[in-house]
Amino acid sequence: MTVARTPSRKHSSTPGQRPGRPPRSSQRSGRPAAPQVYDPVEVEVTLERPAHGGYSVGRHEGRVIFARLGVPGERVRVRVTEPKPKASFWRGEVVEVLEPSPDRVPSPWPEAGVGGVGGADWAHVRLPVQRGFKTAILNEQLTRAGVDLAALAQAPEVLALPRDADGAPGAGLGWRTRVQFAVENGRPGMRPARSHAVVTAGSNPLAVEAIRALEVESHRFDGVSSLEVAVSSRGEVCVALGLESPDAPRDPRALAGLVPEAWGECVSVLALVPRADRAGRDEVVVRGSAALVERVDAGRFGVREFEVSGTGFWQVHPEAAAALVATVLEFAEVQPGESVWDLFSGAGLFTAFLADQVGPAGRVLGVEGAAQAVLDAKANLATYPQVELARGDVLQWLHRWQREGAVDAPDLVVLDPPRSGAGVDLAREVGRIAGQRIVHVACDPASLARDVLQYQENGWSLRAVRAFDLFPMTQHFETVALLGR
Ligand SMILES: C[S@@+](CC[C@H](N)C(=O)[O-])C[C@H]1O[C@@H](n2cnc3c(N)ncnc32)[C@H](O)[C@@H]1O
Repeated sequence: MTVARTPSRKHSSTPGQRPGRPPRSSQRSGRPAAPQVYDPVEVEVTLERPAHGGYSVGRHEGRVIFARLGVPGERVRVRVTEPKPKASFWRGEVVEVLEPSPDRVPSPWPEAGVGGVGGADWAHVRLPVQRGFKTAILNEQLTRAGVDLAALAQAPEVLALPRDADGAPGAGLGWRTRVQFAVENGRPGMRPARSHAVVTAGSNPLAVEAIRALEVESHRFDGVSSLEVAVSSRGEVCVALGLESPDAPRDPRALAGLVPEAWGECVSVLALVPRADRAGRDEVVVRGSAALVERVDAGRFGVREFEVSGTGFWQVHPEAAAALVATVLEFAEVQPGESVWDLFSGAGLFTAFLADQVGPAGRVLGVEGAAQAVLDAKANLATYPQVELARGDVLQWLHRWQREGAVDAPDLVVLDPPRSGAGVDLAREVGRIAGQRIVHVACDPASLARDVLQYQENGWSLRAVRAFDLFPMTQHFETVALLGR
């Protein structure tokens, strides 16, 4: 057994359990059990394969070890911070590489190493190999869930966007147009993986140059708890400062002192002031504009511009929106006059291009939960009489639609849910209602597999899958799936 205990661990008891701690629950006192605290342990492992979540998996004495910052094939020492004795698996970080993989490279983001910020899970691996891991994880998630891949012309593969192609200068770096900082005691930073701490993000090489030029971490932001930066495809920069106190002023002049002088007049700044009941936040434009303009060139499907709130959702990689629109439309083969649902429609990205395809005789219904996104979409789609927008939770909206029978069932349903996916209930209902095609866009392969299985159980089969590495250096990627009856 190669378990190296940390120097602080002096006595032995149950492995990983701090000696002398009280038992889990105290039946006699009836008081709630104190949370269990563990001393970290270090174990030596040979990493075997990549796993969902940015981990490499190995085994130690029969127990599965999920290790961050490793590479499959390596022999490593892993530090496990919560070594629960009865757990079937432990999670940890590679603190020493004993036998390195030839695919290991120096990380371009040293601050994202051991104990550092999360969000660069595979930065220490050659870029094409990162994509290979993502391809393996996508296939594993689909097959493990029981999704039938037999009707696919080719096995699912995660592809690079043009600017990240092998050999392209700066491939995999400088793509992040949206970055969130946490602020603690006035000091901005980022959070480590699975932690609430705030640590220095430093060089942040995944961010676009306009974000790095702000040098956010060299400024203080007293009274601020979060800071989000967004840069549009036209280079406009918008910073949203989340204030801590509902008592903060709503007058832009009184908030101007929050903005570092070094940022100059070109940077728009918003203050998000929590309401007294904490039910929402008032948005105060301290300087510049609250909206960004995003241009999307989707090749043969046209070019469109979108106005998006600086705090609203937009695809993060500069080439993401165009790649997703082109793939969704290529898969969907929309015909003039068709009826389409665009569920989780955001600021109307797919809705607009779908509306072009169905033409004036067709109909596109967009459903979105975020109020500001619906306002943005209304403005972006004002010239399309064939578009209707609904605001609300998609599943609740669908139940209402079923009760009221308000519109005809759609020929095509496009869904682009958040990371948690559509969910079993929504996927089941969409599977029952959709006429001929479903195009499902997913940023998490596990929830995609679960949702696709649900479609499959309602008589649909997976016809095409195309995945993109929209988040190089991280564990994330995006998949577009076409389902047919
Ligand atoms: C991944 S984004 C996609 C937006 C849009 N398709 C795009 O590409 O710009 C997911 C969207 O779903 C919205 N959303 C999340 N959960 C929702 C729910 N339960 N009901 C309605 N909308 C939801 C979010 O506000 C967000 O705009």
